[in-house]
Amino acid sequence: MKEKLDKIRNEAIYTLDRLEDIESIEAYRIRQLGRKGELTLILKGMSSLSPDERPIVGEYANLVRNEIEQKLKERASLIERRLLEKRLNEESIDVTLPGRTFGRGGLHPLNIVLNEIINVFLSMGFSVAEGPEIEFDYYNFEALNIPKNHPARDTQDTFYITDNILLRTQTSPMQIRVMEKQKPPIRIIVPGRVYRSDAVDATHSPMFHQVEGLLIDKNVSMGDLKAVLDTFAKDIFGPTTSTRFRPHHFQFTEPSAEMDASCSSCKGSGCRICSYTGWIEILGAGMVHPKVLAGCGINPDEYSGFAFGMGLDRITNLKYGIDDIRLLFENDIRFLQQF
Ligand code: DAH
Repeated sequence: MKEKLDKIRNEAIYTLDRLEDIESIEAYRIRQLGRKGELTLILKGMSSLSPDERPIVGEYANLVRNEIEQKLKERASLIERRLLEKRLNEESIDVTLPGRTFGRGGLHPLNIVLNEIINVFLSMGFSVAEGPEIEFDYYNFEALNIPKNHPARDTQDTFYITDNILLRTQTSPMQIRVMEKQKPPIRIIVPGRVYRSDAVDATHSPMFHQVEGLLIDKNVSMGDLKAVLDTFAKDIFGPTTSTRFRPHHFQFTEPSAEMDASCSSCKGSGCRICSYTGWIEILGAGMVHPKVLAGCGINPDEYSGFAFGMGLDRITNLKYGIDDIRLLFENDIRFLQQF
């Protein structure tokens, strides 16, 4: 019996020394020491031994059992230690490697250009005002001398919410809101989103951006308008830029004009961007209509002023040579990363 037990022990030690993973060690434990294990069966069969033999065999069998258990533990912890060591080696951190850089976000091209525009006007004493995108018909049209059913409304395809509430088609309604609240002198610019029911193509979007300007004071003339807007154009498109003013019509200004800037691409000699005219239309402007001033409680005999409005998307596209307005709104990272 002792020989049998020795054999079991020796075999166990031999086998365990060759097992390389925790799972097979556990399987071996169950095979040897489990309910149907070789050793367990011997211990169970002790009742058939004589009373003299029983304690001796029992004691020896327990000894062998303990030795095997001890060996199982040792082998398992050795393997665990090796696994840990292996993992630590694999995962070791090389502190000399350069750190991972996190991509830094940048400004959208519209915001880059808007900041430039804001800065020019801040330097000329203007401040920035903002107003609601959901607007009353009164501010968007009526107070700007565009009464109901006036044909001038047709040029701005409007998203109406109710008969009297709409998505603003221009930033000009802020002129009225500011003049109602603030007495002259007034010097503001108003950047913001505007909406028109236009089909999307390379030059149209149902949502785009304008920057409005308004200056009201005593003795303001068309000459002041030209000086301010010429300064703006030189700052945004470069110091060699020249400007010209063409007569135009807006309901809320009289006289009205459109301002062109010399094409910064071809320096006025004519190219694809300026349709071979050498000039690019930049904005609409004019002297605030006396009716508009009076409607806001400002005496047109005492005060005068000028207003202007420009398309931010258009100016951004001109500055960067972008030929499709949709690029500004698609948020394609490959496009945005270039700025
Ligand atoms: N609101 C006009 C538009 O959307 C642009 C404009 C023209 C604004 C003349 C003005 C202005 O303030 O004086 O077409």
